[in-house]
Amino acid sequence: MAADPLSIDVDLTTQSLLLASANHDIPALKDLLKTTSATVQDPETRFTPLHAAIAACEPDDEPQTNGNGSNAAEEERKKTLEAAAETVRLLLQSGAIWNDLDSNNETPGCTAKRLGLEEIYQLVVDAGVRAELLLSRLDQYQPLGDDDDEDDEDNEDDEEGQQEPEMNGTEEIPEHVTEPITTTEGATSNEDYLKDTVEFTDTTLLDSSKQGVMMNWETPIMKRHSELLLPSPNLRVLNIGHGMGIIDTFLSENSPSNHHIIEAHPAVLKNMRENGWYDKPNVVIHEGRWQDVLPKITSGAVVVFDAIYFDTFAEEYKALKEFFEEWVVQLLDSDGVFSFFNGMGADRQVCYDVYTKVVEMDLFEAGFDTEFEDIKIPNLQESAEWEGICRPYWALDTYKLPTCKFVG
Ligand SMILES: C[S@@+](CC[C@H](N)C(=O)[O-])C[C@H]1O[C@@H](n2cnc3c(N)ncnc32)[C@H](O)[C@@H]1O
Repeated sequence: MAADPLSIDVDLTTQSLLLASANHDIPALKDLLKTTSATVQDPETRFTPLHAAIAACEPDDEPQTNGNGSNAAEEERKKTLEAAAETVRLLLQSGAIWNDLDSNNETPGCTAKRLGLEEIYQLVVDAGVRAELLLSRLDQYQPLGDDDDEDDEDNEDDEEGQQEPEMNGTEEIPEHVTEPITTTEGATSNEDYLKDTVEFTDTTLLDSSKQGVMMNWETPIMKRHSELLLPSPNLRVLNIGHGMGIIDTFLSENSPSNHHIIEAHPAVLKNMRENGWYDKPNVVIHEGRWQDVLPKITSGAVVVFDAIYFDTFAEEYKALKEFFEEWVVQLLDSDGVFSFFNGMGADRQVCYDVYTKVVEMDLFEAGFDTEFEDIKIPNLQESAEWEGICRPYWALDTYKLPTCKFVG
């Protein structure tokens, strides 16, 4: 059977674009991009022009035979990296997608990171931040006459099928920004999770599909959060999401004058009752979703905290954003501290770096300065933390702990 001439054409154009990208051939690329999209992918390797431009920087194993020695080699390397950076810039300006996956499960940013190409890696991260900010702005946009409240429901896809990343590692990495993030089995939304059964073990809190809602390895992170939230006794603190009670235990050790906890899952509340949380002095437990509890406790009363912490499960980023934009701004004392579990995109460095910048920018827009403290995380794979857990939600060696205060 004769090959379809149209598909041969398409293949040739894709291959030409990939080749020009790998050669960092800017004039050829500019020409090709007049008629071809920068988002093409090789059908086998799933390489995009961005992957090709970055992967071409992988140094040869062969030793340099140039008689001028290492200076000439260094000069050559510098030129290659400059040409690669220019190519990456051109592709991104032409609409290349920052987080397409190749057949080795690498985004262009992952390849740049693996090859130690820091400048190019930053170009990809910045493109990711721009794309995510734009998508979140589009998500807020409602065409005139569209007053359908259901659009605001948790975990809804937008018109292009894009979903927000979730906060406690329950998000999958998007294949690229315009495709839906496939939610994992089990807890697909906050509503479903809250109806689901959960199981406490000595070291974990799991949902029915064995996803980690909370795990013991996070203890040092929770300890540091609590130290920064309550540096002295007699402060007023609000914690959203009790989980295994790790942070609440640390917080109560710092002797707050008032310790409010909002928790929505019936099994977690039962566990809190069994563990005496309802009888602790100065502890006030609010049963229900923060979205329902906060309007009730603030109606007709001025409620102010010195410290607020947020760490829920199966909620999208827009829930966290709504929380600080609408609630922290009114509940936090002017000298107070807000913090949250910074776990978005934490199964891939480039996504973590993108979402960390996005949240920092959104916090700034809401009136907060954020400082990040690096906390080293041991290799959880080696310490068998993920045995029996359906999806490892943390793959990085550093946790960026956020501390947010009102600007000025
Ligand atoms: C990751 S755990 C919190 C872990 C906690 N930081 C600790 O140190 O153990 C998340 C908790 O948030 C609760 N949660 C989830 N959605 C919620 C919501 N909308 N409102 C209040 N609590 C929620 C979950 O039931 C769970 O107990």
